[in-house]
Amino acid sequence: MGREQFVKKIVCIGAGYVGGPTMAVIANKCPDYKVTVVDISQERIDAWNSDSLPIFEPGLQDRVENVRGKNLFFSTDIDGEIADGDIIFVSVNTPTKTFGKGAGKALDLQFIEQTARRIKENSTSPKIVIEKSTLPVRAAETMAAILHSGENSVRFDILSNPEFMAEGTAIQDMENPDRILIGSHDTPEGDTARDELVKVYENWVPREKIITTKLWSSELSKLVANAFLAQRVSSINSIAAVCEATEAEVTEVADAVGRDSRIGAKFLKAGVGFGGSCFRKDILNLVYLCEHYKLDDIAQFWNSVIEVNDNQMERFVNRILQAMFRTLVDKKIAVFGFAFKPDTGDTRDAPAIYICKRLLEERARISITDPHAIPSARKDLAGIDGGAEFTEAPYEAAKGAHAVALLTEWDEYKDLDYQKIYDSMSKPAFIFDGRNHLDHEKLFDIGFNVYPVGKPALTHI
Ligand code: NAD
Ligand code: UDX
Repeated sequence: MGREQFVKKIVCIGAGYVGGPTMAVIANKCPDYKVTVVDISQERIDAWNSDSLPIFEPGLQDRVENVRGKNLFFSTDIDGEIADGDIIFVSVNTPTKTFGKGAGKALDLQFIEQTARRIKENSTSPKIVIEKSTLPVRAAETMAAILHSGENSVRFDILSNPEFMAEGTAIQDMENPDRILIGSHDTPEGDTARDELVKVYENWVPREKIITTKLWSSELSKLVANAFLAQRVSSINSIAAVCEATEAEVTEVADAVGRDSRIGAKFLKAGVGFGGSCFRKDILNLVYLCEHYKLDDIAQFWNSVIEVNDNQMERFVNRILQAMFRTLVDKKIAVFGFAFKPDTGDTRDAPAIYICKRLLEERARISITDPHAIPSARKDLAGIDGGAEFTEAPYEAAKGAHAVALLTEWDEYKDLDYQKIYDSMSKPAFIFDGRNHLDHEKLFDIGFNVYPVGKPALTHI
């Protein structure tokens, strides 16, 4: 199909968890737009062009196959696609900085800067440049400084359009979003660029769900949304600790509290702590921002969300240690689930990484099972995996084990034959249900010693 058949050309730089799925949805919903996703990684682009996509996400394969080669393309010709594009989404990774000033807190913006320079070098026609990556407040200022530096007289308009999708539900979140947020500069040119992006989303999102704000508000809103969500998880996990001390039940408390419509029921599931590539990184960035503006009490408030999360993982390990007679040396623990949440193979910042490292430190032998995350788990534990085995078969993982530790609430773990698992384990057999996912009474009746999160244990000893 020639260029003339498309109203506009969209290019997305970064073919990751955000770039791939968002562009697949846009291409499906906007057949008049040509959408090309580019990346520096040949391996990733090859995978997007194959039958075996680089990420597992329910519904993604269908959406990609529906439009790939029609109006959705994946390429490593970054320079050529930038030159040809009208609307450029920047969706590269923005991890926490690991070196120099701000190490451990600030976002590492090297990939953003490299991208901005590349856009500038390859542009001879006006472009709308959209921050899709999560960025610090006022990042657009830096991007503008690079794009408008030197001799280049090309017009660039910068917008912020943060992505709110969650992994595992990315396609439904994008196809039916709670809201789309677009931040722009309060100038006639800013308004025109904003309207161009509104036009894209209006193909499937009702206009009243498309919020338009000032640029800095949009950038900050993304950090705040993640901070608020993570704060709820830490809040309920802190109450789980109180429940364990008092024999109240955290699920009952969460239900009673969450039914207040001012509070709401979502994100009140106690567990082993939050993981994923966003929560920790974005809160740390908010903390860094507060410290930069000398708002030390605010920085401390948000930092405590991370501290509670870290303590929650350690509390879980301690519960295992205490219950299993204060030693794990040479005991086999079957780890059910390694992904940071179900329906994804992503293990970035998964609580399982920390918990498995701690179990290995205690000299336990661990057998890790997960339906989609075993390749990542192997990489995450590389170098310290002497006492670790990996298998996709939960029955295999549990064979001869002294305990099962459930860390990810995969649906299929509900339907396993726990009598069979019990029969194959060393006795006394323990289950530590880190997600309150299983039928605890039933497990107790089979003979297990059951340790949920934020509830009294059910034990035979
Ligand atoms: P990712 O690591 O999966 O993908 C980023 C891609 O960018 C990689 O494939 C990498 O090769 C590519 N890249 C890096 N530098 C490049 C360059 N100079 N030119 C071309 N390609 C380059 O990351 P992700 O999870 O998709 O996250 C991207 C951004 O979106 C981050 O800022 C993240 O915070 C944000 N975000 C992520 C999620 C999520 O659930 N993963 C949700 C909302 C927002
Ligand atoms: C999050 C945000 O939800 C999303 O809007 C943003 O765009 C990216 O970051 P994601 O990290 O993919 O999405 O998953 P999410 O569903 O938010 O879960 C994050 C972590 O919190 C998981 O480890 C999950 O297990 C944990 N969690 C979530 C709980 O422990 N309890 C809950 O009640 C909810």
